[in-house]
Amino acid sequence: MNISLNLDTKPGHTDHHAVVTGADRGLGLAMTQGLLARGWRVFAGSYLPDWPQLGDLREQYPDLLVILPLDVSSDASVLAAAAAVEERTRSIDLLINNAGVISERSEDSIRISQDYEEMTRLYQVNALGPIRVSEAFLPLLERSELRRLCYVSSEAGSIGKAERTAWFGYCMSKAALNRGVRMLFDRLRPDGYTFRLYHPGWLRTYMSGTRNEEAELEPEESAAPALEYFLGSTLPWDDQPHAVDEDRLVMRDYQGREWPW
Ligand SMILES: NC(=O)c1ccc[n+]([C@@H]2O[C@H](COP(=O)([O-])OP(=O)(O)OC[C@H]3O[C@@H](n4cnc5c(N)ncnc54)[C@H](OP(=O)(O)O)[C@@H]3O)[C@@H](O)[C@H]2O)c1
Repeated sequence: MNISLNLDTKPGHTDHHAVVTGADRGLGLAMTQGLLARGWRVFAGSYLPDWPQLGDLREQYPDLLVILPLDVSSDASVLAAAAAVEERTRSIDLLINNAGVISERSEDSIRISQDYEEMTRLYQVNALGPIRVSEAFLPLLERSELRRLCYVSSEAGSIGKAERTAWFGYCMSKAALNRGVRMLFDRLRPDGYTFRLYHPGWLRTYMSGTRNEEAELEPEESAAPALEYFLGSTLPWDDQPHAVDEDRLVMRDYQGREWPW
């Protein structure tokens, strides 16, 4: 089933509501910006108390942007955020699970001692966070026509293709995320939900604490194809776009390439 809705609206007159996690900076901020520019009302999950950019955006879009404290690794925080959204709208059309963390410590391989507590932290955010958030927002998504669930994963979670020999916490948590999304897909697709699973590329963002200037892409360069893919019902990368096969869950990267599980 393909759903075609007019998803661009004039600012201030929107019927479209999105939730974005990890929206303070990096890809989440760029996607939030892109949605606001399209006239969407965005509930942006904020994890960093002292980061100014979301606040600046709210000045630009006072009627469209709602900033909510949201720690995806905390049951209480996620439930409080869902309740705060429900006070302001009866439905959510688009949920973008973007928040993610990597370890700041550079582990090498299994030949050095591993930090299992740190791995558990990564798992709580990267793997369990999106499931926790999906569960909490499901009643709001249930009332929408689009019912679109989006997950920012990583090539690092591809068992078939990624060839890393370190970063256990990150790689394993993203593989677990992919497995969880597949379970959600199998359960919720028959109820009309549609899914997008996305690898954003190597980004000049803050995953390692400071902005990674060596990486390939500005977050906006990945947010643009991400939003086309997340909002559309066609694959936006082709000269002649064809309909997304909504009944097949795939992980695609920012160039539209399919990654094996
Ligand atoms: N950067 C890359 O090259 C790359 C490659 C593949 C996939 N990805 C994925 O892309 C997504 C976005 O990452 P990014 O590159 O934009 O990194 P980023 O700049 O670090 O942005 C991620 C945002 O999520 C926030 N966050 C961390 N823990 C959180 C929690 N418990 N609850 C809610 N938010 C939390 C971060 O806050 P803090 O800054 O305080 O941690 C940050 O604001 C992630 O899922 C990441 O795994 C990134």
